[in-house]
Amino acid sequence: MEHLQSYDDHGAIGPLQQDEAVALFGLVRALRPRTVVEFGFFHGHSAFNFLMALEADALLASYDVDDGSRDRAAREFPQRPGFRFFHKSQEDFHPDDVDGRPLDLVFFDAAHFLDLNQRTFERVRPHLAPGAWIAIHDTGVWSPEHLEPVHEEFIATMPIERTREGRIVHQPGEREFVRWILEHFPEFQALHLHSCRTLRHGLTFLQIGPGFPDEAG
Ligand SMILES: C[S@@+](CC[C@H](N)C(=O)[O-])C[C@H]1O[C@@H](n2cnc3c(N)ncnc32)[C@H](O)[C@@H]1O
Repeated sequence: MEHLQSYDDHGAIGPLQQDEAVALFGLVRALRPRTVVEFGFFHGHSAFNFLMALEADALLASYDVDDGSRDRAAREFPQRPGFRFFHKSQEDFHPDDVDGRPLDLVFFDAAHFLDLNQRTFERVRPHLAPGAWIAIHDTGVWSPEHLEPVHEEFIATMPIERTREGRIVHQPGEREFVRWILEHFPEFQALHLHSCRTLRHGLTFLQIGPGFPDEAG
């Protein structure tokens, strides 16, 4: 897990925080998914974390609309076995991108817009493997006592919301997305990796339940 030393746990706004990357790394090692789809490559931190955790026969498909991300993926992940980069929007996911393989884990960390995530979810849902996991980043709240200048700057310029307790909902669209899934697809159960004891962006895991996955049909 040495690659995680390059992660920033407090000053980073976009990518997974270091401790969140540890959690996702552990999830992948525990579950050994064969096919992972990631929406939001950015500089490739979460993709590299997945690749470090995945088995040799696994496939990671990562999507990003940004030209810099496309160039970075080509430069830093050249012809890497088990990795495919798609320079297209998340809502344009197509099952052929992963050769029709059932999706074991889908990671949402791209546009943060509710309608875009909803359309994307509808695209991937028919292709989820039994017992598949969905991970959604940026679903937590920030506690004011942990804010650093980079977060103050974000709050001043982005359409954040506040909870009754004065905590900052830094990506309201992602929380709405989780609520929408739970309301419209009650077969999903959620687990939230949120904490106000530190500056935590927040990660929500969803899995089809109840019951053990191998009994869920
Ligand atoms: C928060 S960053 C991803 C961080 C990355 N997952 C990590 O932890 O290293 C969000 C990325 O989503 C990309 N993005 C924005 N809208 C998108 C869309 N509609 N489809 C795919 N990617 C999108 C942005 O270009 C940006 O690179």
